Amino acid sequence: MPKLKLPAPPLPDRLNPRPKRPGSTKTKPLAEAGISAIDWVDERTSLSQGARWMMFRKIPKGTNWFYTLGSATLFAFLSQTVTGVFLAMYYRPDAAGGAYESVRYITNEVFLGEFVRGMHKWGSSVMVILIFLHMARTFFFGAYKYPRELNWVIGVALLVLTMAMSFTGYLLPFDQRSYWATIVGVNINGTGPFVGPYLSDFLRAGPEFGATTLARFYAIHMLLIPGILAALIGAHLYLVAKLGTTAPPWIKADDPVQKEEKA
Ligand code: HEM
Repeated sequence: MPKLKLPAPPLPDRLNPRPKRPGSTKTKPLAEAGISAIDWVDERTSLSQGARWMMFRKIPKGTNWFYTLGSATLFAFLSQTVTGVFLAMYYRPDAAGGAYESVRYITNEVFLGEFVRGMHKWGSSVMVILIFLHMARTFFFGAYKYPRELNWVIGVALLVLTMAMSFTGYLLPFDQRSYWATIVGVNINGTGPFVGPYLSDFLRAGPEFGATTLARFYAIHMLLIPGILAALIGAHLYLVAKLGTTAPPWIKADDPVQKEEKA
């Protein structure tokens, strides 16, 4: 019986021949360990393929600085997430004075507390300004048209959720200003048609504005909305990578028929 020759295993070229054993080359062992750890994960997940798909894309002629506004909004969101995590380490949603006291403690006693709180507070305005500028860019460049309508709709949800983040975050210091301003905001919500009264009941967490309201706003602000925001941003970016970016409206498409006629 002739010996059957088995086909070579379906390994990518880069792994064939197999990499040298760690420590047998002249590179630094620590760097090598890092590289081989990443390769180990990549061989089993092909994550680098996804990263390449996301990041190495063809972009149209004429792309300019206005196209960075989406990424700037994303950066503002990530900055809010990081500073928010640190604030949550000290904040207490206690309406009987604990919330106000914990914010005072963050501002006056915690190392870099005032800085981190300032970043979070001003960062929220920065994010709102950037999201509007990004929306204006996509509107004026006609990026909401086919086939990107769904990304526009997801964008609208992102805008509403970002505004809801600002609204729910404003109450958390629980000082006079945030308390009364939020009562006004909840009452305005209550005047909406049909859902208004249910919405304001949901926000107040009962008939009275008080301790339950603060806990509800805190849960919405740091768990509910950020979770939905992160998921929707993921979908938004997936569609951006899948559909590609729109060319600016003043860039004319290459028309082979017109070119031929001119020649
Ligand atoms: C948390 C908020 C948001 C983040 C992090 C975000 C992020 C991004 C990024 C990174 C891009 C690709 C780069 C660019 O074109 O700037 C993009 C594209 C896009 N965004 Fe947003 N975005 C957000 C909100 C919005 C809003 C509010 C709208 C509109 C209502 C919107 C509509 C679009 C559209 C239509 C595109 C495709 C643009 C094109 O193909 O040229 N986004 N977004």
